[in-house]
Formats: sequence, C-alpha cells, structure tokens
Amino acid sequence: MKAHKKEMVTAQAPGKLMLLGEHAVVYGRNCIVTAVDAPVRASVSPSDEFYFDARDLGFSQAVDVRESDFPKQVAFAAFAVKNFCERFSITAPVRIATESIVTAGRKVGLGSSASVTAATIVALSHFHSKNMSRQEMFELAFKTVLDVQKVGSGFDVAAAIYGGTLLYRRGEPAPLKCDKLGLVIGYTGIPASTVDIVRQVAESIRNQPDYYEGLFDEINRIVINGKKAIESENWQALGELMNQNQEILRKFRSPSESCGVSSEILESLIKAALDAGAYGAKLSGAGVGDCMISLAPEEKQESVADAITKAGGTVISCLANVPGARIMGEGN
Ligand code: MEV
Repeated sequence: MKAHKKEMVTAQAPGKLMLLGEHAVVYGRNCIVTAVDAPVRASVSPSDEFYFDARDLGFSQAVDVRESDFPKQVAFAAFAVKNFCERFSITAPVRIATESIVTAGRKVGLGSSASVTAATIVALSHFHSKNMSRQEMFELAFKTVLDVQKVGSGFDVAAAIYGGTLLYRRGEPAPLKCDKLGLVIGYTGIPASTVDIVRQVAESIRNQPDYYEGLFDEINRIVINGKKAIESENWQALGELMNQNQEILRKFRSPSESCGVSSEILESLIKAALDAGAYGAKLSGAGVGDCMISLAPEEKQESVADAITKAGGTVISCLANVPGARIMGEGN
C-alpha cells in the first residue's frame, strides 16, 4: 500500500506565566506555571532541503541541521528538527515555518523559545506519524531548549506542551485543577534576558550556597501552599502567597542589592496593583524587567489595571490556563 504523505502540518503551542516559584525551580524545587494565550505556530512541509522561515524575525534560509551552531532567529526550531531527526533516524528534509501569533507576547516574555520548540516537535511528530506521548514530546523539547540555552528548569516547555496550570518540578509536570485565575498582567517595558539573570543568580549562589538553599526551601513551601490555595479557590490566600514569594525574591543578592531580582519599575507596578486592591502581586519570570502579575477580585480588576497603567506599565490582556500544544491543521 502506498504511504499516505502529508503536505503540511501546523501545530500551535501556548506561552507561559510563572505564578510562584521562579529561580527555586532551577534548583530542584516546585513552581506553579500557567499556560497563556500568547501562542507560537510551527508548520512542517516537505522540501528538498532543510529550510527555515521565521518571517517575523526576518529569517528565511536553508540550514544544515547536522550542525549544532544555528542562526539565533531559528536556533530552537533548528535544534528541534536536528534532535527529532536523530531520534527517529529521519533524513528526509522539511521546510519549517514559525510565527508568533501575538508578536507582543514574545516581546514581553510571555511567548517563549519553549513555545517554538514545542510547536515544532508536535508538528514534526504528527507530520512523520510518530504518535509520541506528551511526556516524550516534553522530554525531547526540554532537551532541545537545554541544547540551545544550556540553563533552565523546563517549566516553560511543560506549559507549552501540557497547557493548563501545572505544579512543576524539574522534568515532572503535574496538572492542577484551576478554572479561573483573576490575573492582571503588567509589562514593565524592559525586556529581560532570562539566561543572563539565571547565570547571575548562579554566580551569587556559588558565593553563598546556604543562604540561597534557605530561600529556595522557603519558596518551595510557598508553592506547596499555593497549590492548596488554587485547588480550594482561596484567592485571598494565593494573593498573600504571591506577596510572600515576592518578598523572598527581593532578598536575592543579584543583580541589584536593594531589591534582589526585582527592580524599581517592577516594584512600582506591584505597589500600584496592591494599593488598588489586588490580593497579591509579584514579578513573574526571571525578574529585573518583563512582566509582573497581580491577582485581584473581579470587581477590582479594572482599577488594578488602571493603577498599573498610571504607574508606567502596559497591561497585557491575555487568557491564562489555556490548552497545551495542538495540531491546528493538516493538508494532503
Ligand atoms: C524564568 O522565566 C524562570 C526561571 O525560574 C528560569 C527557569 O525556570 O528556567 C528564572
């Protein structure tokens, strides 16, 4: 019987927001992450050479996937193709086109390299009829992210592949039941490099390992209580835990002595949100810039958003707790 050859497969993967536990999760503790509606798409189609198209990043070119040093615009997609082809001993070339659906998502740190990687692997798996489980796709995508950026806990890959809201410990995603999250997200206007900040924190840890171990254990305790708060829909308690988590992030000695991995702009957006009636507010991600999140009762969300805007932030409207990577379309 003749093989049924696919012409094009498109997959989409969501972005992520860290609710609790950043940094500690890099050192084996738990975190809570939610998948957000800042998706990235990857399309795979047959080609006579390995060709990569990332038009929103100005890249359109053939790439030799036997290499491991790829142009940075397509590094994650190219490494994903390399790892996938090696894993299944595939030599047939493909064309990969990637695009950020909400381009702003990527700029503000919600959409991520993990989403591109996840979408590429899910599309390849379907294109080549490999029937991989979510855990297998997660593991291959996590390996790919580490191959490119060397550091990271994989929390973003877990959110991109599994979606929803997860309790996550390195390599181990556990879905949480969570129907509504009254988040108001504020962008600082300052893009932050997660890899650089994670490296700076690692440097501080080398100087004071016991100090940081203590902070990470505290964060882990907050995360475990956060899981209970989410499961019992106790938003007041979850907000209080976000505040406690932020307090610990201020105690990091890197990169700025006064407020740890937080920063002046993050602090003023957090204060504005709390003053306007949020249950809790904290930075989300590596810190320094990118986004803060606040949790607010429904009737206060508008005034919290206004306060964040007045304090110099940009409110990002984005659904949380959205589904994980999935196939969007297929042509024969
Ligand atoms: C960055 O968004 C979150 C960190 O915990 C890094 C990671 O978990 O990979 C700082």
